[in-house]
Amino acid sequence: MEIITTVKEMQELALAARRQGKTIGFVPTMGFLHEGHLSLMHQGRQRSDLLVLSIFVNPTQFGQGEDFDSYPRDLTGDAELAQSAGVDLIFAPTADQMYPQGYATTIHIDGLTDNLCGASRPGHFDGVTTVVSKLFNIIQPHHAFFGMKDFQQLAVIQQMVRDLNMPVQVVGMPIVRESDGLAMSSRNTNLTAEQRQQGLSLIDTIRQLIARAKSGELSAAQLIDHARQRIESEADAQIDYIQICHDQTLADMDTVDDHAVVLLAVRFGAVRLIDNHYLLQDV
Ligand code: PAJ
Repeated sequence: MEIITTVKEMQELALAARRQGKTIGFVPTMGFLHEGHLSLMHQGRQRSDLLVLSIFVNPTQFGQGEDFDSYPRDLTGDAELAQSAGVDLIFAPTADQMYPQGYATTIHIDGLTDNLCGASRPGHFDGVTTVVSKLFNIIQPHHAFFGMKDFQQLAVIQQMVRDLNMPVQVVGMPIVRESDGLAMSSRNTNLTAEQRQQGLSLIDTIRQLIARAKSGELSAAQLIDHARQRIESEADAQIDYIQICHDQTLADMDTVDDHAVVLLAVRFGAVRLIDNHYLLQDV
């Protein structure tokens, strides 16, 4: 396994692989890898001749006062995990490689980015779509693998690929959780033991809402009310949002049906956790 740090070398390797008729699979990440990332790599390994992992803590998707500086980093540990998952190449560029002096282009997706994380983190998705489209151009993947943990991100990337006719198939993969139900996240490492315990309120809330919806309580307002009370019972919890949205449009729903997904973003101290789940579908 090789670690590539320049755009030029990565793009040349990708174009050469394409010329040889190889199928390229791509897993974009910000590193500090965990089982959630590994599930994407395992899927990618099965579907590609050349599997590329990117590790880049993308400055443009972090807002003022967000955790860019404290975002965990461990390239050595990541390289070991990636190798064990069968990754062929790691692309780990510097910020200067991705955004050289004079860089001036932003990709913006309307509509889908207005709600949820787009509302609570202004500019975040512009950073994500811009870096992902750059990575697609550099790595030239046939397939790219994203987690449903970032439900809105997956929807936004799918919209971008459709709208810009990008020749890449986007594959969404289920959320991987710790044995106690906490959704895996690189950010979990920055939680204190007490905050981590309180963070379990997200999956607890999700489970309660699923049970209520399945027993016929279908008013989104009522379910969200219940969820707020449950989360607010935790001493350090600060709710960014709790919403029930349509899985495709991400618009808020009044009445739960098969499309309904509950999405939560809650801060515990400096760490912001997100989670989501369909309410009536078992995925
Ligand atoms: P990052 O948070 O490192 O996540 C990389 C990929 O791993 C994303 O597709 C994310 O949804 C997926 N992932 C994270 N936790 C997961 C879990 N518990 N189960 C399943 N998949 C999980 O998302 C980003 O980085 C960045 O925004 C990026 C797309 C790389 C652009 O910078």
